[in-house]
Amino acid sequence: PIRFYKQLREQGPIIDLGEYPSIGKFWLLTRYEDAIALLKDPHPFTRDRLKLLSPEEKEQTTRYHSALEQYVLQRRDMLAVDPPDHTRLRKLVAKAFTPRMIEQMRPRMQQIVDELINAVEDKGKIELISEFAYPLPITVICEMLGIPARDRQQFRHWTQLLIVPPQKPEEFAALNAPLEEFISYIQRLIEEKHQNPGDDIISVLVQAREQEDKLSENELISSIFLLIVAGHETTVNLIANGVLELLLHPDQLQLLQQDPSLLPSTIEELLRYTGPIFAAGSHWAMEDTTLYGKQIRKGDIVLVGLTAANLDPDVFEHPEKLDITREENKHVAFGKGIHVCLGAPLARQESQIAIGTLIRRLPHLRLAVPPEQLVWSGSKFRALRSLPLEF
Ligand code: HEM
Repeated sequence: PIRFYKQLREQGPIIDLGEYPSIGKFWLLTRYEDAIALLKDPHPFTRDRLKLLSPEEKEQTTRYHSALEQYVLQRRDMLAVDPPDHTRLRKLVAKAFTPRMIEQMRPRMQQIVDELINAVEDKGKIELISEFAYPLPITVICEMLGIPARDRQQFRHWTQLLIVPPQKPEEFAALNAPLEEFISYIQRLIEEKHQNPGDDIISVLVQAREQEDKLSENELISSIFLLIVAGHETTVNLIANGVLELLLHPDQLQLLQQDPSLLPSTIEELLRYTGPIFAAGSHWAMEDTTLYGKQIRKGDIVLVGLTAANLDPDVFEHPEKLDITREENKHVAFGKGIHVCLGAPLARQESQIAIGTLIRRLPHLRLAVPPEQLVWSGSKFRALRSLPLEF
């Protein structure tokens, strides 16, 4: 990725990514300052696709014909809207994600991590994703959301399908059935929480809908959908990519093993260097405009290249170097501005506990296959299919 993003930046501050079927034309910003500028002051762009539609087109989208249309066209979670809707939706769940709330979950996270390591300790090998990096964040987010343990495996299947963008019409169509299942599952959860509320996040959302009418049915479903998906494919990959990079940079791993107080700066550096999201922020142009010399048409989508920005030599000294002692690491792996990652304190604490405990308890970890044999999934995420390790 380092060489790839260097080449991308050399092509200029904005790259034409081409047309994406049934959505529109995409552009990508490649430089740090420009990324920050758009995230902080998006005008004349919007996160809310509905703002681009005529009243008749809007009416069309409220009569959805398939689960896929509902997912793409009617998405009403906080990431897909502007203020004041964004402010209202984020506020409803923000309390659960404050650093104080997350700190209280530390003992439970440590317990999960210890149990996962206990289960493999005598085997001498571990498939890091399925046996470690995936179970931790998914268990934690499901406990926060109040989702029964038995349902968790099913999510992996659904979220995996969603993160690999379909290219052809038949691939789009193939998403319909699993999405239908996922949305009906969320509807059943809502019904359960209505009958039997707890002190979990989904119950809070369901009550806000029922008692104060603070959110629409669509907003309720989309918000639950976002929290399940956002809590899923991100931290998993940060942990797995992070462990891989440490193994590929033994000097840095050794430094960390000698001085565990470097753990917080290590996580920040791993977020910068191998952050799980290549690009984020779907900014829809509300009018024709010009951006860094390119003609952007109304309806085009401008994305922010987070990985490219995090490797920008104008901002980071020796950006291609993994340096766990790097100070004032201003990476944008969690985005910036009002949509900055709500789960950042959670993701930071989970990955600190996961990586810190792993390298302490299994100090002689090594790759079980040559790095060239590792398989990455090509998508907006930097995600390994599996990471077999020995110790
Ligand atoms: C937003 C990254 C983990 C929940 C974002 C954004 C980024 C991001 C880049 C902004 C996207 C944009 O502007 O379009 C990450 C990374 C993670 C991570 C790198 C792990 C290493 C999590 C977790 C949760 C979460 C564990 C918990 C559920 C959210 C939510 C938003 C968000 C709700 C939307 C915020 C808003 O629109 O106001 N995340 N995320 N994230 N993230 Fe995360």
